Amino acid sequence: MNERIEDAPSWLYDEFQHAGVDYANIDVAKKYESRHLKFRDFEAEFERIRERADLKRSDVVLDLGCGTGAFAIPASRYCAKVYAADVSAPMLGLLRQKITEQKIENIETFAAGFLTFPTLPEPVDAVVSSLALHHLPDFWKVVALKRIADALKPGGVFYLSDVVFHFPVETWREGTQAVLDAMESSAGGEANAHIAREYSSFDWFLEAAFERVGLTVEQKIDDAAFIRVYVCRKK
Ligand SMILES: C[S@@+](CC[C@H](N)C(=O)[O-])C[C@H]1O[C@@H](n2cnc3c(N)ncnc32)[C@H](O)[C@@H]1O
Repeated sequence: MNERIEDAPSWLYDEFQHAGVDYANIDVAKKYESRHLKFRDFEAEFERIRERADLKRSDVVLDLGCGTGAFAIPASRYCAKVYAADVSAPMLGLLRQKITEQKIENIETFAAGFLTFPTLPEPVDAVVSSLALHHLPDFWKVVALKRIADALKPGGVFYLSDVVFHFPVETWREGTQAVLDAMESSAGGEANAHIAREYSSFDWFLEAAFERVGLTVEQKIDDAAFIRVYVCRKK
């Protein structure tokens, strides 16, 4: 079931149809899980996010583009409550399976994305999003960031980790190729599709967008040649 917003205009970008790599396919979702487990350590990633975003045990957090729960599962063991949203039914299905198997009671999942996640019962302490915002074209990214800022408490944290371009515009061809080469050596098969069919942005575009929606960048970290982390605070 999709938690689409009730008064959504007919022209709202259909994020369920444009998830890039075909995450609507169960085999893709299963392969994603097994491939990412080979080069990622979800617990260590959570610890890094917890430290950087200064998450507290009492925090209520929202994970957007949660996938199979790379962040949501470890976060549920530390934070008071985790809302987890994704537009892919198979990815959410794998997360829900883990929730049941591990008898987790503090994760609430939504079949929804950046543009359609519902108004939550309470403003959240933190929004976390890893490797997902690049699925939206730039205009819709700004709409998504505005919705994120609105979902946060004043002083709340937005933690974004994503593929972000930070080469000069003039060297777009070499810059993009360098990103692709770096991605191929870690993420393998996803790299070409990422560049050709998804929507990573320049850093200066994202930074202007954060400012516009009332999010102040407090930390800017390059976790890899192509992965940029922003820790932002709502004013
Ligand atoms: C590369 S995976 C990342 C999953 C997870 N955050 C992780 O770190 O493993 C990208 C995820 O973004 C989801 N996605 C794509 N478009 C989205 C949107 N508009 N809103 C929310 N999630 C979206 C996909 O379904 C997929 O689960």
